[in-house]
Amino acid sequence: MEICVIGAGYVGLIAAVAFAKFSNKVICVEKNGDKVNKLNNGVPTIYEEGLEELLNECLEDEKLLFTTDINKAVRESDIIFIAVGTPTCEDWNVDTSQLFNVINQISSSIHNYKIIVTKSTVPVGTQKNIKKQLINNGVSPSKFDVVSNPEFLREGKALNDFLQGDKIVIGSDSLRAKSIMEKLYTPFNIKILFTNPSTAELIKYASNAFLATKISFINEIANFCTKTGADIDIVAYGLGLDKRISKEFFKAGLGYGGSCFPKDTKALVKIGEKYDSNFDIIRSVINVNDKQRLMPVKILLEHYNDLENKVISILGLTFKPGTDDIREAPALYIIKELISQGAIIKCYDLMASNEIKDIYPTIDYCNNVYDCVEDSYCAIVCTELDEFINIDLKKMRDKMQVGMIIDGRNIYNINDIEENGFDFYYSIGKQNKN
Ligand code: UGA
Repeated sequence: MEICVIGAGYVGLIAAVAFAKFSNKVICVEKNGDKVNKLNNGVPTIYEEGLEELLNECLEDEKLLFTTDINKAVRESDIIFIAVGTPTCEDWNVDTSQLFNVINQISSSIHNYKIIVTKSTVPVGTQKNIKKQLINNGVSPSKFDVVSNPEFLREGKALNDFLQGDKIVIGSDSLRAKSIMEKLYTPFNIKILFTNPSTAELIKYASNAFLATKISFINEIANFCTKTGADIDIVAYGLGLDKRISKEFFKAGLGYGGSCFPKDTKALVKIGEKYDSNFDIIRSVINVNDKQRLMPVKILLEHYNDLENKVISILGLTFKPGTDDIREAPALYIIKELISQGAIIKCYDLMASNEIKDIYPTIDYCNNVYDCVEDSYCAIVCTELDEFINIDLKKMRDKMQVGMIIDGRNIYNINDIEENGFDFYYSIGKQNKN
């Protein structure tokens, strides 16, 4: 099939490469010309496992092309996937302006039947508005169908999730569109759920909200474990033995970050307001997460009272391992708060995107983890990187001013901590030393 993907961000690029792998002819539109050049030369603009190889394979087979020419790409394609950003605004509303700009741009190029598919996460009801907008722009209703096909990719595992995900959700009211979409996805051999557009749109938000709920739930239980001497890992394991609950997504820590859960939970609350639905559970999930990521600051203040001029080491800046993405990472919030308390921040994460240096230009970015903990009053583990898991704890302790670790990802065990001479150890819902 002839496919056009608009937006070569994380979702669009993965989708373009995956469709090209199954012998479709894919044109991927990106407004940034530098990105287009890089991608046409086989250089991925994001890091994802397996992406570089597959990108180059598809380019060599001439199944994939990147361009800035949106109208030509649309004219030459049967299915148009829109994968542009739909960020959440300060007031938690979803900004769909990029999506509707695309709709306005492509309207004049729809001369024969096309399926317009939203891959971007969009508020429930957006399909209807897209349809209206196309008709307002003079496109005949017989020339298009609109489909919702949300993505369920995890950063770092995106290609794998696209090619071997648990489900494909297709929301459409048109039998014609449904049958074409079915043909497109049959080679993926993944269960397809066909439904109406609003249901498909809501499955996306409800999935992310539910996963975020699991995380806030386990963090709340973990905080209670700390007070009662229970062990969160064993509690989570015990819970997960019940198939109805499932063991997945039960790792206690500093809360969820990234570009999706924080944005989608807030957006769902805001969308709910329009329908007089209060989403009490999701509001609480957001509150618990806001507090959880600042827990290290609370512990530090309880311990030291005053952080003025104390060196604090931040281990890990990204929101999870395997990505350079710092968006909504707990480390960012912790650093902000520590700076306001007068602490001197040293941090270490070679993978983290350079954007962090624009946000915090004056803190110390170290080139190795042992420099980062030198003279420190406390090391806070914010990301569970292998390098921190395998650290030489004795060497780390020797470098530090005070042997204190706040382990925000529960990567150490209390016996190793004690054997290596640390005086204070705080984890999330596990045995502490203080
Ligand atoms: C998430 C979803 O997992 C995807 O299914 C979804 O498609 C995507 O959002 C999206 O909407 O685009 P992602 O944000 O890449 O994917 O990251 P996850 O691996 O799900 O982790 C999110 C956050 O939750 C991380 O900060 C992670 O540290 C935290 N987390 C995850 C926990 O604290 N505990 C857990 O047990 C699992």
